[in-house]
Amino acid sequence: MQPDITSFDEYQKQYQYSVENPEAFWAGIAEKFTWRKKWDEVLNWNFREPKVEWFKGGQLNITENVLDRHLEERGDQPAIIWEPNDPDESNIVLSYIELHIKVCQLANVLLRNGVTKGDRVCIYLPMVPELAIALLACARIGAIHSVVFGGFSAQALADRINDSGCKMLLTADASYRGAKTSPIKEIADEALTQTPTIEKVLVLRRTGTEVSMTEGRDLWWHDELNEVDSDNEAVTVDAEHPLFILYTSGSTGKPKGVVHTTGGYMVYTDYTFRNVFQYQQGEIYWCTADIGWITGHSYIVYGPLLAGATTLMFEGVPTYPDAGRYWEVIEKYGVNIFYTSPTAIRSLEAFGPEIPEKFEMKSLRVLGSVGEPINEEAWHWYDEHVGRKRCPIVDTWWQTENGGILISPLAGITPTKPGYAMLPLPGVQPVLVDNEGKIIEGNGVEGNLCLKFPWPGMFRTTWGDHERCRQNYFATYPNLYFTGDGCKRDKEGYYRIMGRVDDVINVSGHRFGTAEIENAIDEHPNVIESAVVGYPHDIKGQAIYAYVICEHHPENETQLIAEINQSVNKIIGPIARPEKIQVVTGLPKTRSGKIMRRILRKIAEGETGNLGDTSTLLDPEVVEEIKAGALKLK
Ligand code: WT7
Repeated sequence: MQPDITSFDEYQKQYQYSVENPEAFWAGIAEKFTWRKKWDEVLNWNFREPKVEWFKGGQLNITENVLDRHLEERGDQPAIIWEPNDPDESNIVLSYIELHIKVCQLANVLLRNGVTKGDRVCIYLPMVPELAIALLACARIGAIHSVVFGGFSAQALADRINDSGCKMLLTADASYRGAKTSPIKEIADEALTQTPTIEKVLVLRRTGTEVSMTEGRDLWWHDELNEVDSDNEAVTVDAEHPLFILYTSGSTGKPKGVVHTTGGYMVYTDYTFRNVFQYQQGEIYWCTADIGWITGHSYIVYGPLLAGATTLMFEGVPTYPDAGRYWEVIEKYGVNIFYTSPTAIRSLEAFGPEIPEKFEMKSLRVLGSVGEPINEEAWHWYDEHVGRKRCPIVDTWWQTENGGILISPLAGITPTKPGYAMLPLPGVQPVLVDNEGKIIEGNGVEGNLCLKFPWPGMFRTTWGDHERCRQNYFATYPNLYFTGDGCKRDKEGYYRIMGRVDDVINVSGHRFGTAEIENAIDEHPNVIESAVVGYPHDIKGQAIYAYVICEHHPENETQLIAEINQSVNKIIGPIARPEKIQVVTGLPKTRSGKIMRRILRKIAEGETGNLGDTSTLLDPEVVEEIKAGALKLK
């Protein structure tokens, strides 16, 4: 299926039309899908409650659009190409016909085990084809999937299962990532000691690692498949039926379950996939994200498959067996569109341009970037050494809550500028506001990035706590969705995302709340209080700097730091580990007791010379001590 927009002139016209007639614009796009019943109302919304409903009254099954709809025209075309962690293991190619069969079989396994429409299913799997199949099998029967990234700890997994009351867990014996094997069934078992709602656990054999199976609860994936056939009639759901929950961190407290619904998400991921990447029939598309994140949901599974594309799924890491792996995979399959993160680019850049230069990568046509701001240097490296200056780079800005890309160039159509996400997609209405919430008009300005009108792919609520959703996203500036990002609109009207202005840290494209990490650090028996900030890191974009106050001065600081790291590993996962931990005797606080993170951020950045006004601090002396300690840490 082709892109709708093929020239910049058309983009401008479509954009104009989408803002003036949003309902007609999206209805025109939605009509191309298979609906079992057409909607009564295109859009019903207010950002006050908030309440957002798209295609209300419409009924459908998204997997009919992902699979059944394509069988006649492209049944034999590869839907998923899977490249294993180990290049010597054989790969797997699933055509649309084969994928359809596998999804139906697994849907029948879920039904057979008592999962029905509206039930939540937790998916904790490595990047294997069964992961994509699992998402679609849930959607096929109207169950709500909640994928938990394989790098999260047992505690984090249990918290997510409990928050949404999942009935079933899908996992594997263990997973391969580079040279490491991770015992995910063992981690799941630990989580399962505190998850009363889980009735059944389906276990995929991936590594052959020995695992313990609990009688009556744990089932082998392959055994269950033997019990079912491949006939499965997709269940009908309402357009606003939840499709999935995905947990993400905010500036306060524990991660929240972002809820996406069916109809709008379908329309939006398909539309943005086809237009941003300008996908051409038959092309090989590769997004290197993990399906445990929104990028994988929207742009490995749903978007590409809705569009009838061939999507490549990679189980491994960019540096295994060596730092040429990505380029080798691109050559092996003739990848045309490559979508990755700035962190991956920077980490490969560190191995030198000779590595990508060993590969011609002639098939590449479009490059994409996602997850964090891309610095100019990495942008140029990507452009020169990967794209060989003949591939447009689409720097796509969006968030878990958004469902799909909001601000991005359209490949080869919109002009590009390093570090800029450029222009909003049709239907997307960004505004910049000052700290008082006043909309900043005109160009050459900077402010807090908000959206003033809904788009079909946006989230609807946070699971089980609508008030929190309102508070977090819709209360800061009345009648606007606040993204948490700072943003610049340059003289020409192009957008540049400046990074988070709230207490969210983006480490290698992974989002963490400062409070979430502080809570994990505070679990250490000797820690009374901690404060966490982000600071610039050459490869990760941002890294975590933790300041901790101990109850007793630690006898062995190295050991204390190791134990704090253990605590973070246990409660969140190794991905949230602080890069630096500094023991302090106090924190810079205002008289009302609020930690002045601005000061801590400056110290972490090494900018100790200009800390701004510290006169309102309760104890200005503590700043000198922290500064001295920070210097010693370097
Ligand atoms: C935050 C959202 C949705 C993609 C995966 C991350 C940052 C994302 C960009 C970009 C600058 C970006 C923002 C945003 N971000 N893409 N192209 N340029 N910043 O999703 O975990 O929900 O994080 O990632 O700060 O708010 P996420």
